[in-house]
Amino acid sequence: MNVKVENICKSFKDKKVLNNINLQICNASFFGIKGNSGCGKSTLLNIIGLLDKPDFGNLYFDDISINFKKQSKLAFYRGNKIGFIFQSYNLMPKLSVHENIMLPFLCLNKDRFDSSLFDKLIETFKIKELLYKQSDVLSGGEKQRVAAARALVTSPDLIICDEPTGNLDSNNARYMMELLRDICISEKKTIIMVTHSNEYDSFFDNFYSFGETI
Ligand SMILES: Nc1ncnc2c1ncn2[C@@H]1O[C@H](COP(=O)(O)OP(=O)(O)OP(=O)(O)O)[C@@H](O)[C@H]1O
Ligand SMILES: [Mg+2]
Repeated sequence: MNVKVENICKSFKDKKVLNNINLQICNASFFGIKGNSGCGKSTLLNIIGLLDKPDFGNLYFDDISINFKKQSKLAFYRGNKIGFIFQSYNLMPKLSVHENIMLPFLCLNKDRFDSSLFDKLIETFKIKELLYKQSDVLSGGEKQRVAAARALVTSPDLIICDEPTGNLDSNNARYMMELLRDICISEKKTIIMVTHSNEYDSFFDNFYSFGETI
């Protein structure tokens, strides 16, 4: 999916957080959004992921302008086209790993379930042994891998990740970056990832840094 952000502005009360942001993110690219804590990375990501709306400006998916007033259309995109990996995982703690990964299909048509993709994700993210464990007993790295599998199980065109390596040790963080990059290349998915760090610059095809002109 191609994503275009045009003159996006967002304030919270009188605090201007996003001031005329413009981005062009090509289909099947791995795009980074970088900047210091509090600069507005998650705010921007939430707008691109249709979890929040801008005060001004436009967002386009494949040249289609998103109408932030059309709740049903926003829900369609969130459910069918976008996968989210959050820093805090957002797993349902009392559900098993398997149930968590299957959660998107509570809202989607079951025909969308692709068992070979499910098997591939379980293998890729090394979670076969964890499938019937309750999610709240997993380590941070295990939870992050489950959250990633859940984000990808619907085969979304756009994958949005808010610091998906933030709670991982450096080996697991690198492993997660490699997996995301492989998915971007092999499945031709667009991935937008927020990070504090400059450590992963080599993984990105392009990035936007708050405080610098692109
Ligand atoms: N819902 C909200 N209401 C009021 N202020 C908010 C809200 N969401 C974010 N902010 C403020 O907007 C600014 C940017 O927040 P944001 O979460 O986008 O930063 P960030 O770059 O993701 O930071 P971090 O790297 O720490 O996650 C912060 O000053 C934050 O306090
Ligand atoms: Mg943030």
